[in-house]
Order: sequence, then structure tokens, then C-alpha cells
Amino acid sequence: MVKPFQFARLPKILFGAGRIAELPGIIELYGKRVILVTGKNSFISTKQAAQLFNDFEKTGIEYNLLNVSGEPSPGVIDQAVKRFNNEEINLVVGIGGGSVIDAGKALSAMLYKKEPIRDFLEGVGHKEHPGTKLPYIAIPTTSGTGSEATKNAVISEIGKDGFKKSLRHDNLVPDIAIIDPELTLQCPKNITAASGLDCFTQLIEAYLSDKSNEYTDALALEGLKEVNDSLIRCYLNGENIEARTGMSFAALTSGICIANAGLGVIHGFASSIGGMYNIPHGVICGTLMAKSNEINVRELRKKTDNHNGLKKYSLLGKLFLGGNDKKNDYYIDGFIQHLFNITLDLQLPGLKEYGLIEKDVELICKETDIKNNPVKLVVEDLIEIIAGRL
Ligand SMILES: [Fe+2]
Repeated sequence: MVKPFQFARLPKILFGAGRIAELPGIIELYGKRVILVTGKNSFISTKQAAQLFNDFEKTGIEYNLLNVSGEPSPGVIDQAVKRFNNEEINLVVGIGGGSVIDAGKALSAMLYKKEPIRDFLEGVGHKEHPGTKLPYIAIPTTSGTGSEATKNAVISEIGKDGFKKSLRHDNLVPDIAIIDPELTLQCPKNITAASGLDCFTQLIEAYLSDKSNEYTDALALEGLKEVNDSLIRCYLNGENIEARTGMSFAALTSGICIANAGLGVIHGFASSIGGMYNIPHGVICGTLMAKSNEINVRELRKKTDNHNGLKKYSLLGKLFLGGNDKKNDYYIDGFIQHLFNITLDLQLPGLKEYGLIEKDVELICKETDIKNNPVKLVVEDLIEIIAGRL
């Protein structure tokens, strides 16, 4: 029987190669004055950017560029609000990786407000965001976070008392998401790997989540099929538009799934480690993915062989290994091995390479929320996961 569930609103989604060309016409639906948020080197230097600026000029669209490098901090958003607060702006457009999409989302929600963003961050401030914002168009240039389809923007303050927390409201789902796989063709190999594994992790965690439902399961499996077909091909040949299209679809789908089914222990680590160390989100997720799933399976097996989580792991094994005629354990173990293999194939670095030191591990684990993980894990399990990927 279908369980009760709810499903959040979606942006209007425009998916397909070359669809960035539709942006000027869409902007004009909202007005002529736009803030364009981009990353430090992803989009601005491309031929699509040159064409876009040309079209802006022809159509009389006035744009202010805001360059965001790295994951946005509260200071970056507050400064941008200050810069544009006295200007009449009709909408915000974010074109870039997950950090840029989040920065644009946060800016669209904070412009013309008087308080700092910190006051509205979950677990940091004590105010609730009212959900009022400027129209926002999200255009990803990487295939990873799926932030183009979610209602939260992750804001990071890195350091000893650091955090990685969300500004969240149902209304913050972008109004329009343009997913143009051609924009991801130039994405460098290491970012293709890390963001691809972030997307892979998100689909797995949403699928296994204790909040998943028939709708999110169906979507997660479609996204995972594309990951299986496309992730390695994208990594080996970034110019392969068919593979890039598959990963663009998988990333968008992962965003829709996590917005509705939640996440698990790996994204718990992404918050706790990511607040303390300057390690890219995709690297944390990718490097911890195999070990975390191995520990999940071990703990699920202590409960009962018929646990729904194990059935789902077995289905994942069938999807990634092919075949259907062996016992469930064969597919479960094979899937975990597949995750270790892909971490090696995509050359994901260990956490020590980014300066994570052993004496911080216990503190990190005590502060890690396992979110909607399919099985409860204790601090000792979490320590074992990190120790396996230092
Ligand atoms: Fe993620």
C-alpha cells in the first residue's frame, strides 16, 4: 500500500543542450535589471557567456555581475545585499556550480531585508525566514548538488567554531531551473569526479532514507540508472555530451529526491567536517561514500535479513552489477565493492590530503547528525568510517 507522503514544489524545469539561449527571453518576463551570480572561472570565460552578454546588450538587459569563489559565507551574502540594497533589481540569476547556485538563492532571499543572513540559518540564528524573495533562475554548470531543485542554500563559516548550515524555506525553490548539459562540458576532471559522487551519494541516501516514499524511490532509481551509464564516461571524456546529459539529469533528480526524502550519514559528515575544514562538499561525500555504506550494511545485517534497507541495497546491486538470479547478499556485497572501486577509479583523495587530523576525528563524530540514515549508527561506527578514509 502506498504510504502517506508529501512532495515539495518544483522549479519550472527547462532541460536540454543549448537551452541557455532561452535565458534573455525568460529574464524579460520579470524585468530588465538582473544580478548575475557566477563562479571565479567556470562560466564567464565560455563562448556561451559571450553569446549571452551579446544577447543582453541587444535586448537591453542590464546586469550586475557578482563573483563568488568557494562556498558562500554569511559575510559574502551580507556584503552583496549591502552592495545592491539601494538598487532596483528585478531578479537574480545564478550560473555556476553548487556554491554559486546556493549564493544566488540566498541573495534572492536576503535582498532588501535588514537583518544579517546568520539570524536565519538553521541551528545558528533564531529567526524564521519569511519566504519572501526576488525571482530566482538557477543554471548549473556542474552535475552535483542538484541545488537548482532544492529549497535550501548552504552557507559556510569555516574554522574552529565553524558551521555549514542552511537557509531554508519552501518558497526558496528556484522559480526556473535551466539545465543545459553543454555548460558542463568544460568542467574539470576532479570536479566532475567529486560533484558526480556527490550526486551519486544523494541519490543513494534519498533512496535508503527512512523518509523515502514511492515517488522519491522511482525518481532515485531513474537518476541512479543515469549515474551507472554516465559517471565514468564523463570522467574519462568530459566532451561526451551524451554522458554529460545523463549526469545533468542525475544531478537534477538527486536534488528533487533529497528535497523530499532527506539524506543520510554521509551528508551528516559533509556538515560536521565541512564546517571545520575547507574541503569541497563533493570530496567529503565521494571519499566517505563506500565506507559509510559498508558500515550501514553491517549494522542493518545485525537487525534482520528482511530489513527494507537491505532489500534496497540488493536492488542497487542488481542495477549496478546486472543480473537477477543470485542471492540478495551477492548483490549487496557486490554493490559495496562497486562503490569502493568507483572511489578508486575516480581518484578521490583521502581526508588527510586536505589537512584533517586524527585528533579532531572524535569531536567531528560527536557533532555528526546521521539525518535520515536507514539504520542508527553510534559514535564508534562514525569514527570507523572516517578512519577508513583519512
Ligand atoms: Fe551533497
